[in-house]
Amino acid sequence: MLKTETADLWWKSAVIYCLDIETFFDSNGDGVGDMTGLAQRIDYLAELGVTCLWLMPFYPTANRDDGYDIIDYYGVDPRLGTHGDLVELVRTAKDRGLRVIVDLVTNHTSNQHPWFKAARSSKDSPYREYYVWRDEPPEDTSDEVVFPDAENSLWTYDEKAGQYYLHNFYSEQPDLNITSPAVQGEIAKIIGFWLELGIDGFRVDAVPYMIETRGVADRWAKEFGDPHVYLKQLKAFMGRRRGDSIMLGEVNVPYETMFEFFGGPDGDELTMMFDFELMQRLYLAFAREDTAPIIETIQRRPQLARHSQFANFIRNHDELTLDKLSDEERQEVFDAFGPEEDMQLFGRGLRRRLPPMVAGDPRRMRMVYSLLFALPGTPVLFYGEEIGMGENLDVEGRLAVRTPMQWTDAKNGGFSSAAPSKLPRPVTQGAFGPDHVNVAAQRQDPDSFLNFMTLLARRYRECPEVGMGNFEILEHDVKEVLVHRSTWDPFGGGRSSSVLVHNLSPRATRIKVRLEGVDEGLEVADLVSGERHTIGRSGQLELPVDGYGYHWLRILYADDSRLV
Ligand code: GLC
Repeated sequence: MLKTETADLWWKSAVIYCLDIETFFDSNGDGVGDMTGLAQRIDYLAELGVTCLWLMPFYPTANRDDGYDIIDYYGVDPRLGTHGDLVELVRTAKDRGLRVIVDLVTNHTSNQHPWFKAARSSKDSPYREYYVWRDEPPEDTSDEVVFPDAENSLWTYDEKAGQYYLHNFYSEQPDLNITSPAVQGEIAKIIGFWLELGIDGFRVDAVPYMIETRGVADRWAKEFGDPHVYLKQLKAFMGRRRGDSIMLGEVNVPYETMFEFFGGPDGDELTMMFDFELMQRLYLAFAREDTAPIIETIQRRPQLARHSQFANFIRNHDELTLDKLSDEERQEVFDAFGPEEDMQLFGRGLRRRLPPMVAGDPRRMRMVYSLLFALPGTPVLFYGEEIGMGENLDVEGRLAVRTPMQWTDAKNGGFSSAAPSKLPRPVTQGAFGPDHVNVAAQRQDPDSFLNFMTLLARRYRECPEVGMGNFEILEHDVKEVLVHRSTWDPFGGGRSSSVLVHNLSPRATRIKVRLEGVDEGLEVADLVSGERHTIGRSGQLELPVDGYGYHWLRILYADDSRLV
């Protein structure tokens, strides 16, 4: 094994930051964020400790789904910039040590995409087979639609085509027929194109829908036998073009199925996947102030190949889905964090950010984000989380959490100098608006949430055992406090081992755990507070924990040469 593993498997100790260029920073005063604006803010992100950007779709779009309905996969939305601006942005990011991944949305196109326009115009069009059609009226699929506010079937009749077409999302987003060799060729070309421009990989949208067999089952069976064969081929193609590129998949399915999307023990499909299951159980655990849902879930995670990785998150750009919880559990989370109907969406999720959910309690917020960085896996932040931004419930649906980034307390939160009516959507108001929550003020305050998040990112990077190592849950008898230990022994002898402690409740307590194989008299250093504790007999560690307290305890082995 190489000592350079943290660089070779860079995604396993990365800090990923998701943003939408449209709402990040407007450099030319037209009201819309742009690539040049983001390039000007790369130093800010580098200082925060971000190592990889995930750019939400920036392609030309009909904008039915905030960019997730693409009309040209090779283009750049002219409101956001040009290819030249993008190359400058990527180059600037690389110069500051940041990688860049981009959304790959190939389950569907926009219905305004030239492929769909051609496809519907004639049965003889070569593009007809790019989509999934049927003649017979469809069965009832109303309970399967993703956006129940707008759709009641997965199939829509197209007058011009004289057939029904498949769409898992909005009817303006017709599903591509991935079994078509022509479509497969297009997807490979798209991947190749962006890699050539210096992109480090993709956040792959809606993967289970992309390789589903609905409407094309016979063809899947004929061409591949198993749709996963296609994912393996796609990943292998990407790897041939660029060896250290990654695919971070959106795959909200139970662990057993996720494991298949990783490519099982071989890990030859998606490199990473968001852990939707754990995210939902985290909220349940926070609501109950009980670690059991976290422990039970994390122990169910499948054992992945060495290069595969889970991505952890507290917030993403969609509704905070709670679809994997039982009705009662979901209600518990709603009661605790989003009791009003307007805070909920589609009956299955929340359209709030974390700080307002916990009434801005700084201790609780810090504990939650400390846990995000401490969990086994790679943390993914959604822009604005680092300063504790809130949502704007006056903004429709999922977009409530996609308000402009809050840079200063000036007009439009310093996002843009344009008239507020020109902005993609209004800035958040009230207690979490720019008057109270903004980057500039927090940069001046050593005690700010921003500086705390910067410290967490630094500690996470200094503790590769968290992202790269194995973990165990340490048993003890305070159910409110999660204690886990991450260990990485990459070079044989140069052990890295940390004990991570998180109190989900506001009550102070004391914990007592046993650290296997750790000799009496060794010390642990708290990487957040600077305190030290000595290990007692039989590896015993005893420790007071504040309400919502957290500790990153590095075991100081005699042979450890790290800075602590
Ligand atoms: C994914 C995206 C979501 C989008 C949908 C359709 O779920 O996260 O924002 O609406 O795909 O592309």
